[in-house]
Amino acid sequence: MRRATACALLLILALAGCGSDSSKRDDAAARARARAHAALQARLVAAGRPLFVKHCGLCHTLEGRVAHPTFIESPIPNLDEVKPRAEYVEERIHRGGFDMQSFENELSATQIRAVAAYVADVAGGRIAASSARTTQLATGRQVFAQNCASCHGIAGRRRTGTPMYPGTEFNFVKPSERMVMERILKGIPDEMPAFKSRLSPAQLRAVAAYVTATAGE
Ligand code: HEC
Ligand code: HEC
Repeated sequence: MRRATACALLLILALAGCGSDSSKRDDAAARARARAHAALQARLVAAGRPLFVKHCGLCHTLEGRVAHPTFIESPIPNLDEVKPRAEYVEERIHRGGFDMQSFENELSATQIRAVAAYVADVAGGRIAASSARTTQLATGRQVFAQNCASCHGIAGRRRTGTPMYPGTEFNFVKPSERMVMERILKGIPDEMPAFKSRLSPAQLRAVAAYVTATAGE
């Protein structure tokens, strides 16, 4: 009887020991995977930078390298003022837009991933942390729901309408307050109305603060 108990105890100790060994092995494997992922990411970002300068830098400002496009009517996002997620950048490069061509015939799938990784890594450098107060954010949320939500998704919600030109998906893109102000004051010809005379200055500031504080990265 005593012998059986001792054996069972040994078995339990052995199993416990074995368990902790394997969890150490899991930890080491997870660390190795994270290191490999970070190294791959760094290589993609480094490969993406010169591709961006060559193919995108003509139109988009990034890392303070100012673009001076003169041949496009649509406002061209200054990528220092907006932080998009890599998946979203990839999609834009594949799909293009109203005034941006698709790059599917110009760049390989690997190059597109590299440019997107680079943009997602460095974009948004001029976005300042929001200093909005809670009451202002509540006002902004309401203004957004009434004026913007039909075209723009935000805070985990999809846009509620079916506009001819869907607005930027703020679940994947965070613009600076400066950029939101500029767009809502002027609007975008044919795509988005101007709100300068539709909203009060306080409502304009509140909705800009709400978008920057809430938009996802
Ligand atoms: C000919 C000018 C032009 C070139 C070149 C260009 N873009 Fe654009 N891009 C635009 C314009 C204009 C928009 C705004 C939407 C539209 O009108 O298509 C835009 C939108 C975007 C957006 C969406 C940003 C946001 O805030 O929603 C991303 C991301 C983007 N471009 C990335 C790129 C990348 C990466 C490249 C290079 C592979 C590139 N663009 C090349 C003009 C250009
Ligand atoms: C009728 C539809 C519509 C409404 C309403 C609308 N927008 Fe837009 N908005 C658009 C479209 C279309 C774009 C350009 C999308 C693109 O370039 O892919 C846009 C672009 C923007 C951008 C630029 C984002 C970027 O990263 O390039 C901002 C900021 C913005 N809208 C804010 C607002 C706010 C705030 C409101 C409400 C006060 C609003 N919009 C109402 C359609 C709309």
